[in-house]
Amino acid sequence: MSKRLRSRDWFGRKDKDGIIYRSWMKNQGMPTDMFDGRPVIGICNTFSELTPCNAHFHSHAEAVKRGVLEAGGFPVEFPIMSLGETLLKPTAMLFRNLASMDAEESIRGNPLDGVVLLTGCDKTTPSTVMGAASVGLPTIVVPGGPMLNGRYKGQTIGSGTHVWKFDEDMKTGLMTQEECEVAESCMSRSIGHCMTMGTASTMACMVEALGLTLSGAAAIPAADSRKKVMAQLSGRRIVEMVKEDLTIDKILTRGAFENAIKVNAAVGGSSNFIIHLMAIAGRIGVDISLEDFDRLGSKIPLLLNLMPSGKYLMEDFYYAGGLPVILEQLKEELHKNVITVSGKNHHENIAGATDCYNKEVIASIDTPFIPEAGCVVVKGNLALNGAVIKPSAATPALMKHTGRAVVFESIEDYNARIDDPELDIDETCVMVLKYVGPVGYPGMPEVGNMALPKKILQKGIKDMVRISDGRMSGTAYGTAVLHVSPESAIGGNLALVQNGDLIELDVEQRKLHLHVNDEELEKRKAAWLKPKPAADRGYVSLYVQTVMGADKGADLDFLRGSSGSRVSRDSH
Ligand code: FES
Ligand code: MG
Repeated sequence: MSKRLRSRDWFGRKDKDGIIYRSWMKNQGMPTDMFDGRPVIGICNTFSELTPCNAHFHSHAEAVKRGVLEAGGFPVEFPIMSLGETLLKPTAMLFRNLASMDAEESIRGNPLDGVVLLTGCDKTTPSTVMGAASVGLPTIVVPGGPMLNGRYKGQTIGSGTHVWKFDEDMKTGLMTQEECEVAESCMSRSIGHCMTMGTASTMACMVEALGLTLSGAAAIPAADSRKKVMAQLSGRRIVEMVKEDLTIDKILTRGAFENAIKVNAAVGGSSNFIIHLMAIAGRIGVDISLEDFDRLGSKIPLLLNLMPSGKYLMEDFYYAGGLPVILEQLKEELHKNVITVSGKNHHENIAGATDCYNKEVIASIDTPFIPEAGCVVVKGNLALNGAVIKPSAATPALMKHTGRAVVFESIEDYNARIDDPELDIDETCVMVLKYVGPVGYPGMPEVGNMALPKKILQKGIKDMVRISDGRMSGTAYGTAVLHVSPESAIGGNLALVQNGDLIELDVEQRKLHLHVNDEELEKRKAAWLKPKPAADRGYVSLYVQTVMGADKGADLDFLRGSSGSRVSRDSH
């Protein structure tokens, strides 16, 4: 080990401060030789019973500790703010940046030489990676793993994806409340995160594609004993990474981000990927634009047949071979000069272990499920800085569509009127939802795939064009134009749309146009009243004052970049 470990600035001290740093740690039963200069590894645990997807993380932390000890390191587990997607109001996304600050300061302020991030539910991956990237220590991610497949009445059911289906079935009388309660038990039958290619699985694939996990980590189900093996091996590896000084910035290069964009397209990953990847890139000083996602990803074929774009689930993905099979298929597309936590590139990692065991789940690049799958960026007077659509989750016939706008001025307005039989709407209309962006809601919730009116669902119609400045759950589907930027709450033209305006979506032309002339838009703009800020104190106030647009990853403006790992002063 050549470089002096930063933990020596605590545990290696021969003064009063050294006593303070060591003595209190010893109340946990740690022998003196644990402080002899071995690498100190932080295990950043996002466990919480309020984040059910991460509630099993104690056993993963124990496995990581075993690995760290085996490799001669000193493991210390610590909690950080855990963001649960299902319970946290108004939306877990509002707190992603806050949790990232928690991760960043907890890592920097403590005597750590390397860090293992235990992540699972949607926001727990980007928040911890953002924080770790802003410190810059050797970092390895252990994704918590998806739940086992859901089964209800002989049918495979997927987390989230089937929530929308059950909701529609209840609205149209195909399912009773009692049946629904049985079905919801069937949907979440084991530990783990959503087992569709929702945002959590997308994030797991993202960190593996970025090179932040050991090879093959993403798809292993939470309940599979091999997940703990992966955790233990990660514990061993992080100690070596500290010795090799393999810091996170050496892994998160521009090439790694470009690889991740391509992999995300091939797996049919969530549109939320865009926002999170940009926020991580912003922390490490890599300049990724919205256009990069379209340029690099939109022509990549869909190779994975998972809900919501397809029909299988993460457990099937694992049995079919997992992400290494996808990486092998994308071999010609991916940069070779990027390293992963192993110190090697993907192809060196996966050499000889890339057989596909189920071609219905993972296709080869010559016979993909869809020829062009990645998210597309559309622009126009309705989204001057861009908006996003995920074609693999959308209806091909709606990709070029002009329709009359039916406008909802807020989520409350939408909830109050959507099922009103008098609502003037048919399936050719374009549903517009305002004020659900980062500043507007606040926190940019997953309401962009707003459910269709009951009277239209009853006709058997399942999709319409929907436009908003919000996000869509990665488990959802539909022709939803999302992340419209600039958002309505800061005066983006989305705020100016009125009922009856014609809106044109042309995905092939990358166009989103409001057929209202500039003069009229100016008039509407002059009459527009800016909404009051969502809060005047606390974190939410800080958030709405400093959050950047969705087109920039919705990080807080002052969090971009890194502060490094140095702490200049002692605590006593
Ligand atoms: Fe946690 Fe889906 S709700 S991963
Ligand atoms: Mg989600």
